[in-house]
Amino acid sequence: MNLPSLPRSGAFEGGCAFVDGAFVPLSEAKVSLFDWGFTRSDATYDVASTWQGAFFRLDAHMDRFYSSLEKMHMSIPHTRTELREILHGCVRAAGLKDAYVAMICTRGVPPKGARDPRLATNRFYAYALPYVWIASREKQLQGIDLHISERVRIAPESVDPTVKNYHWIDLVQSLFDAYDRGRDTSCMVDGQGNIAEGPGFNVFMVKNGVVRTAHRGVLEGISRRTAIELCERLGIPVRIEPLPAPEFRQADEVFLTSTGGGILPIAKLDGKPLPQFPGPITTRLYDAYWAIHEEAAYRDPVNYGE
Ligand SMILES: Cc1ncc(COP(=O)(O)O)c(C=O)c1O
Repeated sequence: MNLPSLPRSGAFEGGCAFVDGAFVPLSEAKVSLFDWGFTRSDATYDVASTWQGAFFRLDAHMDRFYSSLEKMHMSIPHTRTELREILHGCVRAAGLKDAYVAMICTRGVPPKGARDPRLATNRFYAYALPYVWIASREKQLQGIDLHISERVRIAPESVDPTVKNYHWIDLVQSLFDAYDRGRDTSCMVDGQGNIAEGPGFNVFMVKNGVVRTAHRGVLEGISRRTAIELCERLGIPVRIEPLPAPEFRQADEVFLTSTGGGILPIAKLDGKPLPQFPGPITTRLYDAYWAIHEEAAYRDPVNYGE
């Protein structure tokens, strides 16, 4: 498929989308009311980021997106090279150095009255916006208070969490649980009462120098992978195993990982201050996370055409 010519740098200052094969300003980025992506959350997506003018681990995000497409029986009309070009084009047109960059595929609109998803033509969308933080840096310094919701995250047997998806109703309701209690954000448990994930992030605990994160029932976050790899690089013991909620409440340190902010230290669990905030291991990982943004292996500099 031929791509339209790349828009000039800053053509859509502040935000650019790619819809129906064209780069457009965000105000023109629309989906059909009849797209199953809207009516059934029948969609998959991925979110990458750029930091100081370069994508971070873009290949890992594209790998996950293509793997999600396959598991969802979906396809997009773009090769990997084209996808990369579209994402770069959105950032370039938005004129952003630090960006939140989404790629989305929806089931599309089946013929009127049809109930068979195979009859729909999948639709591809992408966009770039200014970088989005799960919590602002001010809030991180002040200290995020995390609520442990009693809600059970959708079971992996129902919705495969390794496919990045819009099954978010449980996550959003858990956020209301948190706000009702005066907390900043929330994490959910799985059917066995282990800590799973939260709205847009994976969850880690540190106890006696050992870092732990959930082994299943969660999105395999690219930032989660980065945190695990950084532990290995720094010689910090890391275990991928169940985190029973009572043990989690006894953590020395807790942090979240997300493309929207990297490593985010937690100050309190349900109003109770953690013994260490920001803890020494979280601080090492935080520093290492931002430092590797400089390493060539993780960077894909945006072509701004300057
Ligand atoms: C449910 C959920 N878990 C975890 C994450 C973190 O994934 P990543 O590190 O790839 O951003 C996200 C990101 O949006 C998410 O939506």
